[in-house]
Amino acid sequence: MEERLQKILAKAGIASRRQAEQLIRAGRIRINGQVVVAMGCTADPARDRITCDGKPIASEEKIYVLLNKPAGYVTTLADPQGRPVVSELLDGISARLFPVGRLDLDTEGALLMTNDGDLANRILHPRFEVNKTYEALVAGSPSPEQLRLLAQGIVIDGVKTQPARIRVLQRRPNASLIEITIHEGKKRQVRKMFQAIAHRVLHLKRTAYGRLRLGGLPLGKFRVLSADDLKKIFPHRKPFTIKNIPD
Ligand code: URA
Repeated sequence: MEERLQKILAKAGIASRRQAEQLIRAGRIRINGQVVVAMGCTADPARDRITCDGKPIASEEKIYVLLNKPAGYVTTLADPQGRPVVSELLDGISARLFPVGRLDLDTEGALLMTNDGDLANRILHPRFEVNKTYEALVAGSPSPEQLRLLAQGIVIDGVKTQPARIRVLQRRPNASLIEITIHEGKKRQVRKMFQAIAHRVLHLKRTAYGRLRLGGLPLGKFRVLSADDLKKIFPHRKPFTIKNIPD
């Protein structure tokens, strides 16, 4: 949200509004690298980098959203090939949010996006063992023995995967719907795991991060997450302190 610079500086605890005016007049404040001297100037702390004597003053408001990513969108901020990028789906969110981890172009489902680098690192770092759950529609009907192999860990790209949780949701004549929960994030991991047992993934959807589920969120839509939502991402045994999360 755009606000007058004096107000932003005051809110950030840098100075009173009057002192803020003095800082501005003295050319000590920059917005996105440009010195500001005009008194009526406004900025958006969620989007703009505001510095006093070169030091960032306003920490961005942290925003967390859960997007139901459709196939055909890339999980990068910009795509040299000009394909649609996931941030285009965040209508009405002015902050620059980045995806936490990746989903393949043809994978659908839960994609967390935020401007909180700390939280993103905690989710992605293997030490925190955040579970990611997927529904994979695979060709044919994997045998119990094959599924046990997946659950125990299977070699892909020369490295054995960590144990996974597997549930068979449906057996159809030519395909099976399998739920798989992993806490690693290797590139195309789920597809490669099923490839390793000779059952090609026909359709892949991520349904949850930890206990934070996609639920009935429509494809292509997002919802802003609360502090309680974020707590569901992390395993119980490793409590996570959440700061700066708007109500
Ligand atoms: N595993 C995959 O194979 N693809 C994804 O997009 C996510 C996990």
